[in-house]
Formats: sequence, C-alpha cells, structure tokens
Amino acid sequence: MTSLSRDTVVGVVGAGAMGSGIAQLAATNGHKVLLFDQDASALDRAMAAIEKNLARSVEKNRITGDHGAEIRNRISTAGWETDGADAYADLKNAGLVIEAIIESLEVKRALFASLDKVVAPDAILATNTSSLSITAIARASLRPERVLGIHFFNPPTVLPLVEIVPGLATSQEVTDASRSLMEEWGRKPVVASDTPGFIVNRIARPFYGEALRIYEEGIADMATIDWAMKEIGGFRMGPFELMDFIGNDVNFAATRSVYEATFHDARFRPTLTQQRLFDAGFFGRKTGRGYYDYSPGVTMPEPNQDRELGELIFRRILSMLINQAADALYLRIASAHDIDTAMTLGVNYPKGLLAWADELGIPETVKWLSALQDFYGEERYRPSPLLKTMAADGFTFFST
Ligand SMILES: NC(=O)c1ccc[n+]([C@@H]2O[C@H](COP(=O)([O-])OP(=O)(O)OC[C@H]3O[C@@H](n4cnc5c(N)ncnc54)[C@H](O)[C@@H]3O)[C@@H](O)[C@H]2O)c1
Repeated sequence: MTSLSRDTVVGVVGAGAMGSGIAQLAATNGHKVLLFDQDASALDRAMAAIEKNLARSVEKNRITGDHGAEIRNRISTAGWETDGADAYADLKNAGLVIEAIIESLEVKRALFASLDKVVAPDAILATNTSSLSITAIARASLRPERVLGIHFFNPPTVLPLVEIVPGLATSQEVTDASRSLMEEWGRKPVVASDTPGFIVNRIARPFYGEALRIYEEGIADMATIDWAMKEIGGFRMGPFELMDFIGNDVNFAATRSVYEATFHDARFRPTLTQQRLFDAGFFGRKTGRGYYDYSPGVTMPEPNQDRELGELIFRRILSMLINQAADALYLRIASAHDIDTAMTLGVNYPKGLLAWADELGIPETVKWLSALQDFYGEERYRPSPLLKTMAADGFTFFST
C-alpha cells in the first residue's frame, strides 16, 4: 500500500518556472523539499522567487512571518556541483520525486535512469511533462509501475488543476496515492490517460486552430474573432490575444506536438499563419509583436461588432471544442466530470464544454459539425460518434 503524507520528503528536479512553484507548494503543505538543478544560478533564481512570493503572502496577511520562514526553511537546494547520479544522492530519503526539467524525451529518460540508482525502491517518480509520453519516460526506469505524470499548470502555486497521468505500466495504487496527495495540497486533480496533450492541451486546440481557419478564410479579422469569443462566448481572452500572451513559439510547439503525436489527425492540423508568425519571431507580447503589434503608440484594431457574424464565429469554434471534449470522453481519455473540471480550472473556460453541450442541445452541435463537414468535405469536422449517438438517443452528459 503506497501512501504519501506530510512526512514524505519531496524531491523536485529542475528549478525553473514550474519546479520552483512545485517546491514552494510542497513546502507550504508541510513537506521537507530537496530542490535540484544542474544550473546553480537557476537555484538562486528559484529561491529568490520563492522568498519573494512568501514575503508577498506575509504582506497580505495570508501567513505570518514565522510561518513564511518555516516554509522557506523546509526547502534545501543541492546537487548542482557534479553531474550524474551522485549529484542526486540526497534523494535517497525522498518518497516522491517530481521532475520539471527541459521538455526533451532523451534528457528526461537519462534523468529517470539515474534517479533509479539513488531513490528508494518504493518512491514514486513523477514527471511534469506537458507533451511527452509518460509511458516512454517510464520505460527508462527499472520501476515503470511507480512512474506517472503529475502535470501542474503555470503557476503551480496559483492554478489548482493537476492532471494525474498514469502510463501503461503505472500501478493503480501509485495513481491513487498521487491523486490523494494533490487533494491534500488543495489542488483539483483530474485523471487523464497517457494520450497527446492529456486533457487540457488536447481539447483546447480548436480554440486556436479554428480561430486561425476562420481568419485564413477571410470570414473575419483577428480583432473580430477575439471580440466574438469574449463578448458572445464569455471567454476571458480571445484566441489571438491568448496566443500572444502564451507565446506563439510555445503555442505552435504544443499544436505541432499534438498533431504529430496523433499521427496527423486533421482536427489538429497546424496553420501556415502560425508557422509564418513563428518563422518571423513574432512570438507575441514577449517580443512586442505577435498577431497584434504591441509597440508603443500603436492602437489595437477595432472589431466588427456584427452580432450575427459574432454568433457564427462563436458557434463554429464552440462546436469544435465540444467535439474534442466529447471525443476525449469517447476515447476514455478522462471522465465527463474530469473533462469539464479540467477546462474550467486549467484554461478558465466560462463553462465545462460537456455541460455547455447539454445546455445548447447535443443535436444542435451535431448539426453545426455536420454542416461544416458537408460544406468543406474535410475530416477535420467529423462529429464524434459519441455526439451522434447521444443526439440520436436524446441523451445528455449530465443529468439535470
Ligand atoms: N512553463 C509552463 O507553462 C509549463 C506548464 C506545465 C508543464 N511544463 C513542463 O514542465 C517542465 C519544466 O518547464 P519550465 O517551464 O519550468 O522550464 P524552465 O526552462 O523554466 O526550467 C527548466 C529547468 O530545468 C533545468 N534542467 C534542465 N536539464 C536538467 C537536468 N538534466 N538536470 C537538472 N536540471 C535540469 C534547467 O537548468 C532549468 O532551470 C517541462 O517539461 C515543461 O513541459 C511547463
């Protein structure tokens, strides 16, 4: 029986944006934390960021100064002096190690192989990968049954969603113990199967991809598409604004990775518009230019606030999102409850997509998708068999 408690020492390898947040979260929840990085300056930056976050919590009276110091003192940094397995020797007491190093299968596999040599046999080894196969990473370990994905969202101290992703060989008790621990940490864990993009990064693809198609077809400009999704759909940001915020390099990489990993499923096909933006280095806010120009003095384009056009844009994108959510359920990637939780907490959608489908009527979504498929003759628009069956039988995803 595997159980994780406050007494479990947590190792975090990789002290970048994610690793530092995960270390802070674990320490806040009472764990002794060992934070590693191959780069000493990354460790310094991580501890400075954690100290700043804790100081802010003290200022806002969320915690006392003593409590903040206690949390800080639970974290120790190590392992950067030498390369290889010896660097991680302190991890022998850890019950859980969470890896948050660079997104490279080769580098992650090398790390998991070296962790095996130092970590206790019953420890759980987790990866925070966003796009790689958990099963492929686990294969590098001699204990693949104790390896799984614990996928946090950025920043991990703020966003409560965590995707728990067992690989093909992961034991049920490891999945259950990890899920319980995340609940104890005040997170909202959902369980996803080891499939490209897990839940959020898979289902969210049409929010960007269909918006780009609508733009490429000249149906509307970017400002109008953003306006429609916010004003009519109730989304916090429009697709183009959001891509510029995330970074077009990051968003394009996620799109390509899901497309490649699904063996070129047409629903996930990337667009040339995004490719060219990427080629130009127009990565969004961080480079001053993306879909929009953020240079000082440049005014943002005005949307065409035609409600009929806005409805068309919103319903087309929403139908594609619902189709992805339904297909994820159909393919048993996650439960209906976890799919809706993931999209509302992970990407702040105003409603769960399956609950939204119920509200609008499943036959209505099938009608939209079938009309698109008839018109374009593309596989991209094929309605999920689950939606078709549910529409025919008059079923809903949730009972009212
Ligand atoms: N940034 C996000 O929004 C986000 C969200 C969810 C998941 N992730 C995933 O989390 C992981 C880390 O992402 P990040 O954004 O924190 O990256 P980052 O670049 O900010 O940090 C990665 C850190 O890992 C260190 N590192 C690299 N190779 C190492 C090794 N072999 N041993 C020890 N340390 C090593 C680097 O020095 C760096 O400090 C990736 O797998 C990424 O896909 C990122």
